[in-house]
Amino acid sequence: MLTDKFPRAILAHTPTPIEHLKNLSRELGGPEIWVKRDDNTGLAFGGNKARQLEYYMGEAVEQGADTILITSAVQSNYLRSAVAAARKYAMDVEVQLEERVPDRPEEYYRSGNPYLMRLMGAKLHSYPVGEDEEGADNAMFERAEELKKEGKNAYVVPLAGTHTPLGAFGYVDCAEELLGQIKEQTIDIDLVVTASGSGTTHTGLVAGLRALGSQVPVYGICVRRDKNAQFDRVFDKSKLVAEMIGWDGEIVADDIKLTDATLAPGYGQLNPAVKEAINLAAKSEGLLVDPVYTGKALAGLIQLIRTGEVADKKRILFIHTGGTPALFGYPELVE
Ligand SMILES: Cc1ncc(COP(=O)(O)O)c(C=O)c1O
Repeated sequence: MLTDKFPRAILAHTPTPIEHLKNLSRELGGPEIWVKRDDNTGLAFGGNKARQLEYYMGEAVEQGADTILITSAVQSNYLRSAVAAARKYAMDVEVQLEERVPDRPEEYYRSGNPYLMRLMGAKLHSYPVGEDEEGADNAMFERAEELKKEGKNAYVVPLAGTHTPLGAFGYVDCAEELLGQIKEQTIDIDLVVTASGSGTTHTGLVAGLRALGSQVPVYGICVRRDKNAQFDRVFDKSKLVAEMIGWDGEIVADDIKLTDATLAPGYGQLNPAVKEAINLAAKSEGLLVDPVYTGKALAGLIQLIRTGEVADKKRILFIHTGGTPALFGYPELVE
């Protein structure tokens, strides 16, 4: 594997299956839609973070860490997955919950991911600001210093764009896996679509596919920041990751495709297109997508199809990055 030289702690059940969404494809009347079921990566409800955490946990184990520290939103899948990963490696775990989404009901704070974090016994901290990635990470580094004075060795899984995106190696692995699968199943995929949040998944897919000689385009659907801000982040990280895995080719601006058409009104907030996508997937396929990431990503894909922007594509692979526990924090999806 391209990532063999990096320390890795096995967490994800892979390979995840690739399935044809026949009913959804028929409903949309456009290209064939296929799905890579990364919602089934197995670690405490699965999702993309299991693959990403393999490389942070690899480093944590190598450094002899006894505690994992991590910050993100209240309904974060990353936090839930990190808590599970820490438990699997018999470590203590503390998570910091950021107030990122306004006007949420009680369920948002009690159900879904925060419920699961409590169930796995994580220590919870809160952070009042939702858009201060550096500040939130720094609070975790300060906490690590405090723990050091108590004789503990804490490892911080960082979120801000300035840190080395080790998690992207998990999606370099996924790129390798999916190229093998589409070859084996003789499915000719001409577009890959994924949610683009921290950009780690998007970055790993772009760097991995190009390094492996595939020119298949990867469309990122913005779920956190607009496409201009996201572009710089994904472009820079993709170049860095390509270099780190030892590829001597070049990631070019055209490799980074983004749309923010379904982002408004903002991170973790529903809009009619997202509600439609969640309902369509559930009712046509029994496929659950979440309100924050995969529902928004699917809504973005539907938009790309309806506007004719991907009219030349015959077979699209949607990466289902998980996130389903957050459905329980959004009771308004069912009237
Ligand atoms: C379910 C789910 N999908 C997609 C994403 C976005 O992935 P990334 O942060 O790698 O861009 C996240 C991030 O938290 C997520 O939890």
